Amino acid sequence: MDRITVPKFAPRKRKGRKLVMVTCYDATFARLVDQAGIDAVLVGDSLGNVIQGHETTIPVTIEDVIYHTRAVSRGLNHPLLIADLPFMTYQASREEAMFNSGRLMQEGRAHAVKLEGGVRVAETVRAIVKTGIPVMGHIGLTPQSVHGFGGYRIQGRGEAAAQRLREDALALQDAGVFSIVLEGIPTALATEISASLEVPTIGIGAGPNCDGQVLVLYDLLGLDDSFAPRFVKQYATLSNTVAEALKSFAGEVRDGKFPAEEHSFD
Ligand code: KIV
Repeated sequence: MDRITVPKFAPRKRKGRKLVMVTCYDATFARLVDQAGIDAVLVGDSLGNVIQGHETTIPVTIEDVIYHTRAVSRGLNHPLLIADLPFMTYQASREEAMFNSGRLMQEGRAHAVKLEGGVRVAETVRAIVKTGIPVMGHIGLTPQSVHGFGGYRIQGRGEAAAQRLREDALALQDAGVFSIVLEGIPTALATEISASLEVPTIGIGAGPNCDGQVLVLYDLLGLDDSFAPRFVKQYATLSNTVAEALKSFAGEVRDGKFPAEEHSFD
């Protein structure tokens, strides 16, 4: 299997072959993701939720993302590795955005970076791309803006909001992104935006007509039974499997059944 690289993204869209992306945060899951033939891996700032237990992605730092990206990079051979620029690592100035993107590539060993926003970050994207760093855009329900949105609400409803997202997508494409995540927007709008762009869109909560799909790894594996939003499909219920395994271990230790002879040394 060849490595998936940035230049392979646009031809996949032209050929109508869907791109598959998942988030990942450690080397063990990265090896499994690699073996499953996934195209792209995102070390998302969703690590703030699923790894660190925060309510939002806002507390995540550049050091956090570098640490997890470096771990994931050790488990991957084939997928493209994309790292998220966390909150306030690219908004204050273009120089900071370029510097922090460089850190994700150099220290984290990412192949590309992702940031949130459309028109307002387009010139920042252009500057990062000019340095030779591939950028993935992210518009719609962008989690770093959760407080501005007043919660995790579907974006792009109503003509004015839809028009802003169309303009955001075109501004990002013009600035040089190689792909755009469309998160939490109506299917019809995601379909229209995807058809209007040359670069592939990757949907999450944006319906079936994007050029690819992404899910948070822990969500699709069903590792948290208290989190089941409409846009997630659980392909396993690992929370039950893990709980059962832990109960079995505890029971066997308490009953003196583990370790048995075969787990012990002469
Ligand atoms: O941080 C993340 O996991 C993301 C994806 C949900 C697109 O941005």
